[in-house]
Amino acid sequence: MGSTEKYYITTPIYYPSDRLHIGHAYTTTIADSLARWHRFTGKDVLFLTGSDEHGQKIERAAASLGIRPKEYVDKIVGTFKDLWQKYNISYDDFVRTTDERHHRVVQEVFRRIYDKGDIYKGEYEGWYCTPCEAFWVENKLEDGNCPDCGRQVELIKEESYFFRLSKYADRLLQHIEEHPEFIQPESRRNEMVNFIKSGLEDLCVSRTTFDWGIPVPIDDQHVIYVWFDALTNYLTGAGFLQDDIAFTKYWPADLHLVGKEIIRFHTIIWPITLMALDLPLPKTIFGHGWLLFDHDKMSKSKGNVVDPVELANEYGVDAVRHFLLREISFGQDGNFSHRALIERINADLANDLGNLLHRSVAMIIRYRDGVIPQPHGLTDLERDLQQLAGSTAKDVGRTMDDLEVNAAISAIWRLIARANKYVDEAEPWVLNKTEQNDRLDTVLYHLAETLRIITLLIKSFLPETGEKMWVQLGIRKELDSCCLEDIAWGGLEPGTKVVKSDPIFPRIDLEEVLTKSQEGSHEVEEKQQVGGNEMDQAKTVGKPQISIEDFAKLDLRVAEITAAEPVSGADRLLKLQVTIGTEKRQIVAGIAQHYDPESLVGKHIVVVANLKPAKLRGELSEGMLLAASTTDSLGLITIDRDLPSGAQVK
Ligand code: MSP
Repeated sequence: MGSTEKYYITTPIYYPSDRLHIGHAYTTTIADSLARWHRFTGKDVLFLTGSDEHGQKIERAAASLGIRPKEYVDKIVGTFKDLWQKYNISYDDFVRTTDERHHRVVQEVFRRIYDKGDIYKGEYEGWYCTPCEAFWVENKLEDGNCPDCGRQVELIKEESYFFRLSKYADRLLQHIEEHPEFIQPESRRNEMVNFIKSGLEDLCVSRTTFDWGIPVPIDDQHVIYVWFDALTNYLTGAGFLQDDIAFTKYWPADLHLVGKEIIRFHTIIWPITLMALDLPLPKTIFGHGWLLFDHDKMSKSKGNVVDPVELANEYGVDAVRHFLLREISFGQDGNFSHRALIERINADLANDLGNLLHRSVAMIIRYRDGVIPQPHGLTDLERDLQQLAGSTAKDVGRTMDDLEVNAAISAIWRLIARANKYVDEAEPWVLNKTEQNDRLDTVLYHLAETLRIITLLIKSFLPETGEKMWVQLGIRKELDSCCLEDIAWGGLEPGTKVVKSDPIFPRIDLEEVLTKSQEGSHEVEEKQQVGGNEMDQAKTVGKPQISIEDFAKLDLRVAEITAAEPVSGADRLLKLQVTIGTEKRQIVAGIAQHYDPESLVGKHIVVVANLKPAKLRGELSEGMLLAASTTDSLGLITIDRDLPSGAQVK
């Protein structure tokens, strides 16, 4: 009994001084993926988030609107919860620092430390940064401003209670040295060690010049300093002084995930508070980097704040989650741009994952009436795929344990890429045509089984996508009830009936979206200039030379094949539906003997877009695709980068 391993993970609690932006969604989405993954591995997870509602900053924000602080925070905290619901954040508890339960815990923590003699009364004279809610000594200021946020600091002078941080400095340094996993990544650990070694001042833990806070239990002229109040939320959420069984189980926290600018509070004030309470310290505090917008810090005053709700409405929640999790190397700063987001969606989600699912399900329907067949003998291709599926699950586990979330996703995408390559190598359309039925069964089973494993791996990161894939695979067992053991190869029962659906991630027309935004218009201009390249004199092979003007008459474009089918009565022809940018066209091509229609969908090819339309066997052809051919072989001209359809070829 009680042997299940626990995992307690927290996000910072956010200030309800404004609506949350995509940077906040970044922290919380990572925490959510870690929480979901650990649940999947069978752990008893406590995932905590919340709101940091007291302090001078909030009091001023409410005053500027002429409303009471509580009324103000109530409204904004509602938007936090809506946002987390939209992003499928699976938190187990949400601590509001205005909760009664928290109020009691903070006062008791203060009282215990005071009774121990580690909090004493004095007078504070020094600097204060209200946006950061941080005290600063003069020599730490940069050009007279807050060294963290660069904003103006205020000189304050008031009676205060002080917390003897200095008393614990050596113990803290020793703990950091003995537990290399305590502060991560390493660069932040070194920063903190230097900070502590430069000398810790006792910390002011009460204020008297405003009253939006929890009163000091022994002196109601003072309210408790907002960071002392806020950090304690991690104890409140674990049941401290409320539920001993829960607290014994979940404390200490396994991971406090925080942004790099608040790691100082978490690795100095917080562990010393716990030492003063004789409580064990959290295992790891990880300080991640910032999400920048066009390489600049997001801020309301700069007007570059990206709204996570708008983004999710436009592109879908999982598309945004995927970007946040995959694009940024965890621990470092990363950059957000609409272009980068759309490129990720098109390359990873629409192309790699979406096409794999779509064409696999389509082939099972087409060749086996939708029923996943029993596999027969294996070749090296299958052994290789099975082996990669097994090692991918291990890689995801290892990278998640090492907090390399983006590396975990990369590992899953390597498996997706391998499965796509497997389709091209195994050529199920040829197996079908040549009636190699056992082999076709094996290939279709391997595709479906790989997709099942991918779904189990992906669901911690992209929960809605996982559900959609599961539905298409037709598996009865609830996805939510699956655990790590289900990942073993062979879990898919032959006879399961797949379900055809629309593509899970339609491609987005990058050019169209970007030209709508200002960001886009700059990029289009740049592209047009690059297009002015001079071409070297071309050598001709067999045909007379042409001038650059002759060549310029051709309107060559990238086109995406969206559907392909045979032309009845013409065994050499295929009828293709393509998109060229936003335009839909039909092209009839003599490639039926070289390509199965199924294998073409999703390919980006090159077409002559300004060729006069013609009718071939009664079918309209509005363009011509380019292919290289010899007498017995033919290959389509494709694009080796992810370029949108409609892009000019020149
Ligand atoms: N209330 C304090 C935290 C108290 S925790 C006991 C606070 N709140 S905050 O709302 O200002 O920030 C919360 C978290 O959001 C911080 O970890 C911060 O680093 C993170 N982020 C804010 N903007 C961000 C980006 N642009 N990118 C990534 N994270 C960002 O600090």
